[in-house]
Amino acid sequence: MNNRLVTMARHPAQLTVSAEDFQILEVPVAEPGERELLVKTIYIGVDAGCRAMMNEDPYVVNMAVGHPFVGTQIAQVVQSNADGFVPGDFVHTLSTWSDFSVFKPAELGPWCYKIDGDLSLAVHLAGLGFTGFTAWVGLNEIARPTQSDTVVVSAAAGAVGYAAGQLARMTGTKRVVGIAGGANKCQYVVEEGGFDACVDYKDPAFADHLKTACPEGIDVYFENVGGKVQQTVLPLMNDFGRIALCGQIAQYGDEVSHGPNWLPLTLKRLKVQGFLANDHFECFAQFRGETEKWFRSGDYKSPVSIVKGLENCHEAINSLISGKNLGRQVIQVAEAY
Ligand SMILES: NC(=O)c1ccc[n+]([C@@H]2O[C@H](COP(=O)([O-])OP(=O)(O)OC[C@H]3O[C@@H](n4cnc5c(N)ncnc54)[C@H](OP(=O)(O)O)[C@@H]3O)[C@@H](O)[C@H]2O)c1
Repeated sequence: MNNRLVTMARHPAQLTVSAEDFQILEVPVAEPGERELLVKTIYIGVDAGCRAMMNEDPYVVNMAVGHPFVGTQIAQVVQSNADGFVPGDFVHTLSTWSDFSVFKPAELGPWCYKIDGDLSLAVHLAGLGFTGFTAWVGLNEIARPTQSDTVVVSAAAGAVGYAAGQLARMTGTKRVVGIAGGANKCQYVVEEGGFDACVDYKDPAFADHLKTACPEGIDVYFENVGGKVQQTVLPLMNDFGRIALCGQIAQYGDEVSHGPNWLPLTLKRLKVQGFLANDHFECFAQFRGETEKWFRSGDYKSPVSIVKGLENCHEAINSLISGKNLGRQVIQVAEAY
């Protein structure tokens, strides 16, 4: 069996990555030991953090040159020495970007679990997986919107943002407004995602349009991008508003950020909290219970953008930077067997 393993060849020189930033090694397929699984990778979830961790600047995890990429994936069990798993099972796991991998499920804790084969496999990396969970945590554990709130979500057509806006709508908040790049994405977010409005941040009149879309100001801002979008949102925040700082993709590369002026935050008594979804795994079962029901009834949607082939991993990362993706970006490594 051929087994390719993706490693980082160098720190990228610019925000977009190139094939030369990656080195794909041929490595042997390891024999699974006691309590281990050998799995074949089907889909790899690619999130904006994959680009941020290639920098030397601090991020959740920083990669050194030569290190393999690791991330969430859907895989199929080829050989099992672990209780509760048999060949053919589909699993959500955290593993190397490779054709095959070997690991002990017990050592991965909440990252490794069996999934039902009756739903689309990739949705377990998306609305029902880590990005959906991130949206759920940002709303339920951090921002806690009420029924009278206007909620604004940036990167609203992306994996986390699209889930966040839909979940805010389903919990009965007053108004949900997305921010996305381009008229087509904005239309999609409103028509398919059920947001009340969506504003194009690339439009020169973005600030005016956002103000019009939020006639009563903004109570909750679900922050995914930072940069200029953040600077346009802040003046519209209402007193006692909450900001859930999920991520700042506009700042993962070369854009210099001068940060917010904090005085308005004091005067408006805003609550601003950064969070990492993986600190909240105790809520994962509750999240799955709620969202799977909505997904099965068609109320909660989860689009997926697919780049085929492990060798095209740079394209998958660039898709998040250019905004080519709609919903969750994944790499399809293989078909299920
Ligand atoms: N805190 C956590 O635990 C956690 C977990 C997962 C992800 N995150 C964060 O959540 C955010 C979304 O991640 P994701 O994986 O779901 O990615 P995503 O939203 O699916 O894709 C990123 C989107 O960001 C937008 N974008 C890119 N550059 C931009 C810029 N300069 N200004 C404005 N928008 C820009 C693009 O959409 P447009 O076409 O609309 O520009 C792109 O589609 C990221 O900041 C990520 O780091 C945080």
